[in-house]
Amino acid sequence: MKKIILPLLFITVHALVFSQQFIPNYDEAKMPAYRLPDPLIFKDGNTVNSKADWDKRRIEIYHQFEYEMFGAIPEWKGITKSTVISRNENALKGIAKRKEVRLELSNGNKIIPVTILIYLPVKSKGAPLFLSYNFDGNHTTTAETDVLIPDSWVSNNKDFGITDHKANENGRGKAISRWPMKEIVSRGFGVATVYYGDIDPDFDDGFKNGVHQLFDARRDSTSWGSIAAWAWGLSRIMDYLEKDQDINSKKVIVLGHSRLGKAALWAGATDKRFAMVISNNSGCGGAALSKRIFGETVGSINNSFPHWFCNNFKRYNLKEELLPFDQHELLALMAPRPVYVASAADDKWADPKGEFLSCVYASSVYVLLGSKKFAATKMPPLNSPIYGDISYHIRPGKHDITLYDWNCYMDAAERYFNMAKK
Ligand code: GCU
Repeated sequence: MKKIILPLLFITVHALVFSQQFIPNYDEAKMPAYRLPDPLIFKDGNTVNSKADWDKRRIEIYHQFEYEMFGAIPEWKGITKSTVISRNENALKGIAKRKEVRLELSNGNKIIPVTILIYLPVKSKGAPLFLSYNFDGNHTTTAETDVLIPDSWVSNNKDFGITDHKANENGRGKAISRWPMKEIVSRGFGVATVYYGDIDPDFDDGFKNGVHQLFDARRDSTSWGSIAAWAWGLSRIMDYLEKDQDINSKKVIVLGHSRLGKAALWAGATDKRFAMVISNNSGCGGAALSKRIFGETVGSINNSFPHWFCNNFKRYNLKEELLPFDQHELLALMAPRPVYVASAADDKWADPKGEFLSCVYASSVYVLLGSKKFAATKMPPLNSPIYGDISYHIRPGKHDITLYDWNCYMDAAERYFNMAKK
């Protein structure tokens, strides 16, 4: 009896202590004093003085994120085949051309199908294009009845009537508030969206599903997690976009909300073909500084989502002070390309102030590369975007992506690409 009770007691006490440790802090006064690494100081203590220095320092920072956080992507030896599977020249009541493209990522006998839904404005050739994953299937982003439902694994979801991990008709249009296609297209932008689970289903299965099947299965403490897999998927979609004559691949804006904002940031860092990078409420592991210990922390994210990052990242659970980098340096990896960070006032879990401060502390790198300094040191009032090569806004409301957010992103992109206002 004693033999059973003791281990049980140990497990219960351990679980209790563990969960206590991850009770989020929402009090600025209770935050530890912290010191952020300076992106313009090399590991050996020397200062970064020039663009050439930055190119070297960027590699140091990049490898820190790669080996200590997102995980290294193994060599890709596969191929991608693409087929246009549907076209509608008269979509969104005539303002858009729509198509669905099936990519087949393959290596040997394994094939992973990925479906891209694309809307392009009929009137603007060469339009900038937002590339952004969706959470529940392409059919949830539009009310149009013939957009395909994904075949891949999806999370069960009461609101979408899913109980068997299979998407169905009930989900159609359920996420349209997040995908204001008409407004986006009317302003002269295109949208390409893909269900993120096509690339890697979002659960901890030991990296046996999704695109992991296309790679060498050997893993170590630096091997990639799902966020790196989603980022890698964005690059494969970009490979396709570069070949599509209807797309202006020089103006692809990678955008993501929440966990997909983390993936968009890592995609922007790993792939310089993305002209602009947008993080919407990406929080911990995205734009928010980890060392503030406010809202979600490294320990709690690794505890809840053990498959998102590499195993090395778990060494910083409850030990953020030991991190050799912080998330302002992730933003700096985009420089000099524009990066936009957005927060929501009620989204304390994502630490809006920590997201804002990342912008402040990334600014020195942008300035070194010729941009104007990020124009704030204090958080701006609600609904008062700061535009520049680093842009930031905070709006009222909850964790979400809204028409207001999209309008700000389009305003920023219009400025950057010198587009005439529509
Ligand atoms: C959870 C998670 C966050 C993540 C969010 C989302 O809240 O803790 O890190 O950003 O899910 O993706 O919606």
